[in-house]
Amino acid sequence: MCGIVGYAGSVRTACGRPLEVCLKGLERLEYRGYDSAGVALAAPGMARVAVRKKAGRLGNLVADLKAKPMPEATVGIGHTRWATNGEPTDVNAHPHVSRDGKVALIHNGIIENASRLRLDLETEGYTFVSSTDTEVAAKLLGKIAQEIIDATGQPDIFEAIRRLARMLKGAFTILAVDSRQPDLVVGIRHDSPLVVGLGDGENYLGSDVAAFVAYTRRAMELGQDQAVCISADQVLVTDFQGHPVEHPRRYTIDWDASAAEKGGWDSFMDKEIHEDPAAVSNTLLGRYDESGDLDLDEVHIDEEVFRQIDKIIVVACGTASYAGLVAKYAIEHWVRIPVEVELAHEFRYRDPILTPRTLVVAISQSGETMDTLMALRHAREQGSRVLAICNTQGSTIPRESDAVLYTHAGPEVAVASTKAFLAQIVAAYLLGLYLAQVKGTMYRDEIHQTIDNLKAMPAKIQKVLDSQAEVISQTAQRMSKARSFLFLGRHVGYPVALEGALKLKEIAYIFTEGFAAGELKHGPIALVEPGEPVVVIVPSARGRNVLHDKVISAIEEVKARGAFTIVVAEEGDPDAGRYADVVFWRPPCPTLLSPLVDVVPLQLFALDMARLKGLDVDKPRNLAKSVTVE
Ligand code: F6R
Repeated sequence: MCGIVGYAGSVRTACGRPLEVCLKGLERLEYRGYDSAGVALAAPGMARVAVRKKAGRLGNLVADLKAKPMPEATVGIGHTRWATNGEPTDVNAHPHVSRDGKVALIHNGIIENASRLRLDLETEGYTFVSSTDTEVAAKLLGKIAQEIIDATGQPDIFEAIRRLARMLKGAFTILAVDSRQPDLVVGIRHDSPLVVGLGDGENYLGSDVAAFVAYTRRAMELGQDQAVCISADQVLVTDFQGHPVEHPRRYTIDWDASAAEKGGWDSFMDKEIHEDPAAVSNTLLGRYDESGDLDLDEVHIDEEVFRQIDKIIVVACGTASYAGLVAKYAIEHWVRIPVEVELAHEFRYRDPILTPRTLVVAISQSGETMDTLMALRHAREQGSRVLAICNTQGSTIPRESDAVLYTHAGPEVAVASTKAFLAQIVAAYLLGLYLAQVKGTMYRDEIHQTIDNLKAMPAKIQKVLDSQAEVISQTAQRMSKARSFLFLGRHVGYPVALEGALKLKEIAYIFTEGFAAGELKHGPIALVEPGEPVVVIVPSARGRNVLHDKVISAIEEVKARGAFTIVVAEEGDPDAGRYADVVFWRPPCPTLLSPLVDVVPLQLFALDMARLKGLDVDKPRNLAKSVTVE
């Protein structure tokens, strides 16, 4: 939520570079929010910081900058907003400036004591032009900066922002520039993301590495409650009291800028769906040895600790929670321990039963979802171990977990999650198989066979992409006027139904509901009327699968009431075609792995439906990629 970028160069690197870097960074971060965008620049000799901001997409700001260019600068900050506090208007857009115009500041998060601070400032005669908490922080930072000058005769924006941090409550990443120190960009973070990019003769800050990966792949993590000051040649990190932080962790970003480009595709979502096979194979890569045994040394939790685990609780939100539901079916079957799956925001506000033998698995693509982060903190406070399944290096959730299993889906830019969902499922399978291996709940041969089956999945996913695109797009055309959809599935088909419903809802703005097919007669069937589209995930018919027949009966029941049935079924299923109006076929595979192929046609279907409605599939309204506020 909200994208933040900062750039510090020198007079040598000036020539529009700060603005260029900020705009490029904002372009890449726009998926974090697109209600408004703005930049602030500073350079030696400027009496005040130069600020430009516009409501709406980044394009509005770019057009404005073309019409009225900004001055050359040495440092800059940029912001793309997902409005939490104050409507998306020009005035409420960031950056906000101090009363004297010398300090500009951008913010991601929510400052909970803003009203109190605003009242205090108003008592001192300050006036406000916007209704945002951010303007309060900007006015306050300007005041503190001036107080330091009055006391010492020297500007010290780094100390000023640390003092500001100590006064704020809530969640915040804040970056600031000061026209009196035009070689510095300073930042603070508390419960909100910020990473450093390390360049040559220039340095960067960003909400995530996408902000600067076009310029450098060298990055540095910042911890909770840390402050940072970058200049062209230096990066200083301290805590909020000013004590230096020794050796912040440095790392190399394992993807390059082209991975976050559309590369000829119409949309990131289209591209990312077509990266489903690679997301699965890359997540498997290096996680088993030549004999087929699982090799998860990277997780750094002792085998003995894993052996003692007697319960798993998955905490996650949205799509990631549906990956958790798939994990439940697989891990309970393989490891014979209970797996609970809980929405992170529900988990933290009840009184969950956690022990040192409970493994909490936090699944998150972004690694920054506030609810998931808070849930894992709660679990650790209760003495449980937390393992993160995450797609984003250097993000907060893995950093605060005891262990991490990275998904290697590559950067996911489209707001609606697709390839990361498959990668999360694969990582959860790997965890389950590993637990089965250390606990001895599966024969080695069975584990090896499952790994072989997993290795075969990317080709099967590719086959769905290649063979079903046409029928999916024709079906979308037939359904383009539909106002609602029901999705039904059983067993591992149930989370797939939930995910299919969520995809269509969030990018095509169609009312959808996903149900466990067994629930149909307990209520949802009342919604079925002639022409109502019902999407059904049919389990394999092989091995006399009793669930197959039950799901086929559900199709018959809705069909009898006039529903238009769209069915995802395994090639060769003798019954699916009989009762379905349309079938999206997928290759045979073991039932527990079937979500990896079943979800793919539903991703494509949602994409086609949204496109037919002329919607921006990458940036659905009201949403942002990473939900860093509660
Ligand atoms: C839906 C979607 C969201 C996310 C959820 C969790 O397409 O993307 O439901 O899955 O906001 O996000 P992460 O995985 O970043 O924690």
